[in-house]
Amino acid sequence: MSGAADNGRTAPGADGGRVTAPFGRRRSEVVANEESGGYRIVTALDPAGPPPAAGQFYMLTAERGWGGDGERPFLPRAFSVAAAQPGADGVRLSFLLEDVGPGTHRLAELEPGEGLHLTGPLGRPFSPPRELNPDAAGAILVGGGIGLAPLAIWRRTLAGRGIPERSLLGFRDREHSGGLELFRCSEVRLASEDGHAGHRGYVTDLLAQMLAGDSAATAVVYACGPPAMLEAVRALCEERGVTAELAMESPMACGYGACFGCAVPVRSGGYIRLCVDGPVLLAADIESALVAGAGHR
Ligand SMILES: Cc1cc2nc3c(=O)[nH]c(=O)nc-3n(C[C@H](O)[C@H](O)[C@H](O)COP(=O)(O)OP(=O)(O)OC[C@H]3O[C@@H](n4cnc5c(N)ncnc54)[C@H](O)[C@@H]3O)c2cc1C
Ligand code: FES
Repeated sequence: MSGAADNGRTAPGADGGRVTAPFGRRRSEVVANEESGGYRIVTALDPAGPPPAAGQFYMLTAERGWGGDGERPFLPRAFSVAAAQPGADGVRLSFLLEDVGPGTHRLAELEPGEGLHLTGPLGRPFSPPRELNPDAAGAILVGGGIGLAPLAIWRRTLAGRGIPERSLLGFRDREHSGGLELFRCSEVRLASEDGHAGHRGYVTDLLAQMLAGDSAATAVVYACGPPAMLEAVRALCEERGVTAELAMESPMACGYGACFGCAVPVRSGGYIRLCVDGPVLLAADIESALVAGAGHR
């Protein structure tokens, strides 16, 4: 499994690492739905789309049970791709879901054979470490809760390119944890607020320790998680002079730049649309990762 640059297939419309989505939504078919701790991993076969780049996302809609008869939800919901495996019959896309409301609840109960409409891949992916810091010796991946999804595919992409990476993953408690199998074979250190796994405390404690060692000058940090965690990562990296990219969330209604629902303020003034200029942003480009109305706790 890997990102677009590594899988041997031509990614139509690839643009500086960004893979451009085919026009309109298309039908994929669910091939698996597995429990993973407190989360679900839903895998669908996309017969027509290009393989995504790590950090990109899809807008998802269940074919059935999605609005109609006065029921919610009816807008698509945004999900980072957690794994992508190209094959002769299409690309197997895996999504890590946390059931937080009607949309995620419906997606979490999808069964093999059901239809899943998707639009994507969308947005700006992660950048290779050397593009961000010519002295970079490797990458440090920092994930919080469901935010580990885009880091899972990025880890595999980095490993496929022979780039050293270390992963730090943090969870609130046992119920709000899962997806670790997506990090198989990797050097992973865990933290949990309730102490059920690894270091008792925040994943940013582990990052602070790592950056206090000799990693700071030669690492690039990639993070995804709740806004408070992302803000702690951003502030820590700024203080230590470490380059970082953050995969962020904001409320997304369309996913392709039309509704402006996902606008976030940037340091240079004004706003960007997170769905087209993100979701991966250079940490130095924002004053704060605390974006109103978005993000898992
Ligand atoms: C680029 C991007 C990538 C994402 N990737 C993933 C992913 O890989 N896995 C995943 O499970 N979710 C992901 N999300 C979040 C997901 O889109 C939302 O959790 C989902 O839209 C909620 O829909 P719902 O109908 O279940 O809940 P809603 O009815 O929309 O909300 C129910 C409850 O969840 C809260 N909520 C709403 N939006 C979010 C949010 N973005 N994060 C946390 N809580 C929220 C609400 O405050 C409310 O309390 C991503 C969001 C974005 C923008
Ligand atoms: S989600 Fe509509 S403009 Fe970004």
